[in-house]
Amino acid sequence: MSYFKIDSLEQYFKHYNKSIREPRKFWGKIAEENFTWYQYWDKVVDFNMADAEVKWFVDAKVNITKNCIDRHLAKKGEKTAIIFEPNDPSEEALHISYNELYERVSKMANVLREQGISKGDRVCIYLPMIPELAVSVLACARIGAIHSVVFAGFSASAVASRINDSECKMVITSDGGYRGNKTIDLKGIIDDALENCPTVTSVLVAKRTNAEIKMKAGRDQWLAPLLDKAINNSVAEIMDAEDPLFILYTSGSTGKPKGMVHTTAGYMVYTAYTFKNVFNYEENDIFWCTADIGWITGHSYILYGPLLNGATTVIFEGIPSYPDFSRFWETIEKHKVTQFYTAPTAIRALAKENLSYVQKFPLKSLKVIGSVGEPINEEAWHWYNDHVGGKRCPVVDTWWQTETGGIMIAPLAFITPTKPTYATLPLPGIQPVLMDDKRNEIEGNQVDGSLCIKFPWPGIARTIWGDHQRYKDTYFSAFPGKYFTGDGALRDEVGYYRITGRVDDVVIVSGHNLGTAPIEDAINEHPAVAESAIVGFPHDIKGNALYGYVILKESGEYRDRDNLIKEINQHVSDHIGPIAKLDKIQFVTGLPKTRSGKIMRRILRKIAEGDYSNFGDITTLLNPEIVDEIVKGKIV
Ligand code: WT7
Repeated sequence: MSYFKIDSLEQYFKHYNKSIREPRKFWGKIAEENFTWYQYWDKVVDFNMADAEVKWFVDAKVNITKNCIDRHLAKKGEKTAIIFEPNDPSEEALHISYNELYERVSKMANVLREQGISKGDRVCIYLPMIPELAVSVLACARIGAIHSVVFAGFSASAVASRINDSECKMVITSDGGYRGNKTIDLKGIIDDALENCPTVTSVLVAKRTNAEIKMKAGRDQWLAPLLDKAINNSVAEIMDAEDPLFILYTSGSTGKPKGMVHTTAGYMVYTAYTFKNVFNYEENDIFWCTADIGWITGHSYILYGPLLNGATTVIFEGIPSYPDFSRFWETIEKHKVTQFYTAPTAIRALAKENLSYVQKFPLKSLKVIGSVGEPINEEAWHWYNDHVGGKRCPVVDTWWQTETGGIMIAPLAFITPTKPTYATLPLPGIQPVLMDDKRNEIEGNQVDGSLCIKFPWPGIARTIWGDHQRYKDTYFSAFPGKYFTGDGALRDEVGYYRITGRVDDVVIVSGHNLGTAPIEDAINEHPAVAESAIVGFPHDIKGNALYGYVILKESGEYRDRDNLIKEINQHVSDHIGPIAKLDKIQFVTGLPKTRSGKIMRRILRKIAEGDYSNFGDITTLLNPEIVDEIVKGKIV
């Protein structure tokens, strides 16, 4: 019996039980039967959760690109691997076959090698959603360089801090990027960032917008001529199972972004397996995930998961509102997309527009529709189910994180009965538990608590780049021996999970994970600001938006409050990126603090939500009178 593909609910339970009773046999068989290895493992898994040490497929040797590309060439070299749908729909879409992908990745790998990049070096990729992005990622993996893709919406200082944290040697970028009717000066942002990045010695520049840009002699080179000269085949580097494949930064509730490190073999096995089962992938399907490759969703379900399965994957350069609100539906129709995977924030934004935008298109090609990134509310779930899925496509609400590498809790399309707002059941191999405040496991159903995972799975991130202690503290110390997700969840009467949201100081805005601390740091750098506190509050489209409470320094200079609000948001935009801008800013004279000086965010959250009913015990506050003042000044 193969464990790789689950065919019925009955089989799901069988596989699930097997995966818990005999995880080594379960994952060992999946890994052995579905991938190409240079050398098998000595041990399937080796771990010590208390020390945050996890290794999968110990001592095995593999290259993920051999599995994503080479092994498909004999039988489906001419099959389309990537469909590139440009920002402007009148520009022709590109179909890149597996043969062509092999050649492009090989050339790029050879360019990287010629430029002195070798196994273990870090390469920062700051590109729009164009084929070069996929090719660069895969070329790094081909030669064993560690890719660190930074979403091309991050500001110069955010890119610089990520480059410096992982000491990248090279940056791959482009002359610019298209986004709806705007163009973005990516190279200019990189030039600014690199003023403060001593480790970067070379920059490769792809051409996209033909914008006039500055090229720094001795550092910057156009990519195209280098590729033209490169040889179109390449030898893949032999990688150890636990060699890092990539670093991807995610915000933490405090401190600088965390460079999550994913390693080669476990990530490969896990993304391939979850892709196949959650989306019920079959040969000839056309899979479209609308995320950006700059996020984990794009890494795992635009690139690695689909390519490992020999699938056709769509790379979409544009945005859902350009040229109009039909763009998603028109594109599904154009490429006969079978699986569509997007975020609740996009669904809510499109649901607010006239129904005719979606009703114009029959969308008959669709089989499965997915949701990711934040809880999907009941209304959005139904709109998606009714108007996009035509009530015949299962809605797979997939819960997972940058740290988990792949989907953890989700319905398996056509197998698990769905339930609006529920991510439903864990995938085989995943052992979720709910914990109470006293760190006890909550047994039974119809309960809620902090969501932890009590046994490792192949896709778990192995560490935070350069800071294993922080990895241990963040994920393995709140509930000793378990991985703590930072999310709260409830389990219903049949054991289905519903994710209720973050229980820490991370706010999910439009599906983007934002730590409040770095935003506060950015605001506090404004010369007029003494202190600030940021919380999330519910927002119709974004899911959550940011509400800032700001204490000004004593100064008469800043009478123009509207202008000050603009300046503060500009600071946030410069330090982090436009996605972190605040929706509301309230100037206050103090913040509710405990005697130990900790801001009582619970109260600030309630005020931002407009719920003044029950602040709980505020007598322990240093300054209880401030609560009244803040309530009176609440921005509506
Ligand atoms: C956080 C992780 C996983 C890829 C995108 C986000 C929230 C994610 C769901 C879902 C409810 C969800 C959680 C999680 N989240 N998917 N289906 N239902 N919440 O990755 O940026 O690492 O964010 O996103 O709060 O912890 P990320």
